[in-house]
Amino acid sequence: MIYEGKAKKLYETDDPDLLIQEFKDDATAFNAQKRGTIQQKGIINNAISARVFTLLESKKIPTHFVKQLSDRDMLVKRLQIIPIELTIRNITAGGISKLLGIPEGIKLDFPVLEYHYKRDDLNDPLFNEYHIFMLKLATREELKEINERSFAINQILIDFFKEKNLDLVDFKLEFGRHKGKILLGDEFSPDTSRLWERTTGEKLDKDRFRRDLGKVEEAYQEVYRRVMGKEVLQ
Ligand code: TYD
Repeated sequence: MIYEGKAKKLYETDDPDLLIQEFKDDATAFNAQKRGTIQQKGIINNAISARVFTLLESKKIPTHFVKQLSDRDMLVKRLQIIPIELTIRNITAGGISKLLGIPEGIKLDFPVLEYHYKRDDLNDPLFNEYHIFMLKLATREELKEINERSFAINQILIDFFKEKNLDLVDFKLEFGRHKGKILLGDEFSPDTSRLWERTTGEKLDKDRFRRDLGKVEEAYQEVYRRVMGKEVLQ
């Protein structure tokens, strides 16, 4: 093991270019001030991430995903992670409602992109492209590519989740460098996105854990069911 994060562990393999990403059931919120476990979350997030990465690769978006190895493990390309948490929002919720004093649930006329500096010790502060260049986290060319890819990913995933009768409210992406190329890394799951049932507006994501809304496991299982077209095996 080379790294243990809040929701995943990373292991080295015989190949220096490849890592194994293991998804845990541990859940944290508010920069790990709130901790808990969501049963089967690791299995669910691994499967959903694998499905999303496969879809994105099929649409010519390069990712770190190589293949799923087991229910909790995926083989990925080793990245030099760019410490930017890029979020895209289609509907207001969470951070943007708090920051700008606007209600949740307002459909935006165009997707809104934000950057947070990936620094737990600073509470992942919101920052802008000037800060990114000032800190030399990415070049202008790299950031342009990252932004364009992120908007393309947003459109692909809006359409994908709409078919499952889910609204893609917002999500977070991380990118990294691998052999001179920028690849999408990390995960895509209900931990790192907001997904609302289109008919009822019910929250089917980590906000159920963050806000103690109950039926946390059920929400993750429901997203799995819609994305994978089957039940999570016990
Ligand atoms: P945001 O509303 O800014 O933060 P919060 O989740 O604290 O209300 O988050 C927008 C989306 O991006 C949301 O789906 C959660 C995800 N996200 C993360 O997973 N990790 C992060 O560090 C950040 C900033 C966002």
